[in-house]
Amino acid sequence: MLKDEKLVARVIEAVVKSVDVPVTLKIRTGWDERSKNVETIARIAEASGIQMLTVHGRTRAQMFSGHANWEDIGLAKAAVSIPVIGNGDIVDAASAREMIRVSGCDGVMVGRAVQGNPWVLGEVHAVLTGAHLPAAPAAAERWLIVSEHLHHLAEHHGIRTASKLARKHVIWYSKGLRGSAEFRQSFQTLTDWQQMLDVAAGYFLGLGAHVHQHVLRPDIHSGLHPDPELTVAV
Ligand SMILES: Cc1cc2nc3c(=O)[nH]c(=O)nc-3n(C[C@H](O)[C@H](O)[C@H](O)COP(=O)(O)O)c2cc1C
Repeated sequence: MLKDEKLVARVIEAVVKSVDVPVTLKIRTGWDERSKNVETIARIAEASGIQMLTVHGRTRAQMFSGHANWEDIGLAKAAVSIPVIGNGDIVDAASAREMIRVSGCDGVMVGRAVQGNPWVLGEVHAVLTGAHLPAAPAAAERWLIVSEHLHHLAEHHGIRTASKLARKHVIWYSKGLRGSAEFRQSFQTLTDWQQMLDVAAGYFLGLGAHVHQHVLRPDIHSGLHPDPELTVAV
C-alpha cells in the first residue's frame, strides 16, 4: 500500500473515523530503495489522525535482509510532531541507545531480539531510563520462563503442534549459552513432549552463573561494538 499514498490516507482516515480509541500506525520506509517515501507517509499519517507512528527502517522489498536504516527513521521523526518509535535491528541496550542518537526517535520497538531473550527488554528499559541494569537471569529464572512458555504453547496449540513450535523457541533461549550447540543437536531430535521438557530442564537448570551471552549480532551496524558494561551475564 506504500506505493499508493492516496489510498494510505483514505484507509487511515476511515479507520480513525470508525473507532473511538487512539489509532497508531507501523510502517516501513517505502516499497523499495528507489521509492522510499517515509517522510510523505509520516505526514499523511499525522494529517489523517494517527497518534503515534512506528517506523521499521527497512523497505518492503528488503523484507528482513540488510540493515535497518536508522537515518530514515530520523526523516520521519523530523517530518511530524506525533511520537515516532524506531524499529529494526535493536539487539541490546547499546543498539537501542544508538538508534535514538541517530534518529532522534521518541521510543524503540524491539523485534526479533526478544525471541529467546525476553530479558533484553529490561536491559533496554533500564538503560533508557537511567536505572541500573537488571541482574542477568539465573539458571532457575531462565528455566521458569522457558517452562512457562512451553506450558502456554501446549495449552494454546495442543502438545502435537507445541512439540514442533517448542524446538525453535527452546533453541532460541539457548542461543549464546554454554553448551548450546550440543544441547541444540540433541534437543531437535526429540519428539516426545515429556522428554523435551526433561532434556530442556536438565540443560537450563544445569547452567552455571558464569556463561556470557553476547546478544549483539556482528552483521548489524558494524560500527557498533558490544559495550562491555552491557554484556549480559547469564
Ligand atoms: C515472526 C515475526 C512476526 C512478525 N509479525 C509482525 C506483525 O504482525 N506486524 C508487524 O507490523 N510486524 C511484524 N513483524 C515485524 C517486526 O515487528 C519488526 O518490524 C521487524 O522484525 C524488525 O524489527 P527487528 O529488527 O527488531 O526484528 C514480525 C516479525 C517477525 C520476525
